[in-house]
Amino acid sequence: MAPSVFQQVLDYANRADPYPLYAELRRTPVIREDDGRYVVSTYREIVALLHDPRVSSVRKESEEPPSFIRLDPPEHDRIRRVLNRHFGPPETPGRIDGMRPELLEIVTELIDRFAGKDQVDMVDEFAYPFPVTVICRLLGVPREDEPRFRVWADAVVEAIGPVGAEQERLYAKRDAAIVELRAYLSGLIEFHRRHPRDDLLSALATDDAVLGRMSRAELASNAALLLIAGHETTVNLITNGMLTLLRHPHVLERIRQRPELVIRTVEELLRYEPPVQILPDRVALDDIEIAGTVIPAGAPITLVLAAGSRDPDHVWDPDRFNPERIDPERFVLRRGGNQHLGFGGGVHYCFGAPLARVETQVALSELVSRLDNPRLLADPPPYRPNAVLRGPRHLMVGFDQVRPARVGRVPRAREEAAARAAAEAAAAKERS
Ligand code: HEM
Repeated sequence: MAPSVFQQVLDYANRADPYPLYAELRRTPVIREDDGRYVVSTYREIVALLHDPRVSSVRKESEEPPSFIRLDPPEHDRIRRVLNRHFGPPETPGRIDGMRPELLEIVTELIDRFAGKDQVDMVDEFAYPFPVTVICRLLGVPREDEPRFRVWADAVVEAIGPVGAEQERLYAKRDAAIVELRAYLSGLIEFHRRHPRDDLLSALATDDAVLGRMSRAELASNAALLLIAGHETTVNLITNGMLTLLRHPHVLERIRQRPELVIRTVEELLRYEPPVQILPDRVALDDIEIAGTVIPAGAPITLVLAAGSRDPDHVWDPDRFNPERIDPERFVLRRGGNQHLGFGGGVHYCFGAPLARVETQVALSELVSRLDNPRLLADPPPYRPNAVLRGPRHLMVGFDQVRPARVGRVPRAREEAAARAAAEAAAAKERS
């Protein structure tokens, strides 16, 4: 029997360009696959299901307790609120923005290491080490432990989504990796409880507010989620970003001239080449009627976010990469934004979105301003196997030379962050 369109999407042969297949999928907004899964590919239907309480994220994995990405409300919301107390507004408004100088410093150091070369692998030498360093610092995980947790993170990522004939072997490997990763983090959490520092694990391990209490096992499970979600996706956004800019040199040149355009370029990348292409494993809790189809209770649901973000009924001229996109008829361009599904939607909307945005903005603007005459040495690049978290495994980029970092940028960024923090503190004092 001929493979279905969705099976072709999963086929590695189509990894470099799944977008024509997504266009085919969208002709039938909700398709039932032979294995019983319902594949949804149009923007409106995906958004409706992301916000539908009859659609569950709960899935049995062998390790308990599950992290909050695998929980439904109200349990999901409780954990998310506890974590957010130490991550973002309203209680910790400055944490992510305050990291800008540090992000710039890490990026500057990584690009400095390109000096004397005329080509680099953008993945291994930049897009991977950068977010790994950031999430380690944010959480309080020693950076030198990366070779240990990389093996576990790889095993988890490999088993995401429909993985075909190798499923049993990959699931067993993933489950073993999760046990080891959680045990490792549990040890770290205990250490941070006794020796707290200015990091997220310390804050969570010592939070004694009523809302803030989590068991050590819950904390380890959610810390594992943050560690993995905190870098596996950002690697791909940065790499897809460089790939796309090098394929559209006029956009790259415009960012070089007007660095503030990087903000909307990152939004357009999340729409045009999103790192999370598919949410594979939702489940219908009840019969759900949508686009003329009834998804029966108990059926698995797969949301093809990347197809929804290129739905011509939602976005004008969707296959064009255009950070300055605007269609006055249908599409409202809010300040620096566009409506895409790159971070999902509904209660599970990406927790780390503010960090991922800032990281990618800093990474791309520095690469663009410091590499002279950058060019792709292999197009398309080789891809990682996974269809869900999609991105190049390597991205060879050539250049004439590396320009020095602009003098004083890091200290100036520090001053700006301090001034913003002081203004924020003053405003908070005024409010109270
Ligand atoms: C470009 C980078 C990123 C992309 C494209 C991305 C994308 C996504 C998407 C699509 C979801 C929804 C998952 C679902 O509905 O099942 C999600 C959830 C999540 N993301 Fe991200 N993410 C990125 C970076 C990050 C970072 C840096 C962190 C951590 C600091 C993070 C932490 C999370 C967490 C914890 C969830 C689960 C939220 C919940 O269940 O309420 N992500 N992300």
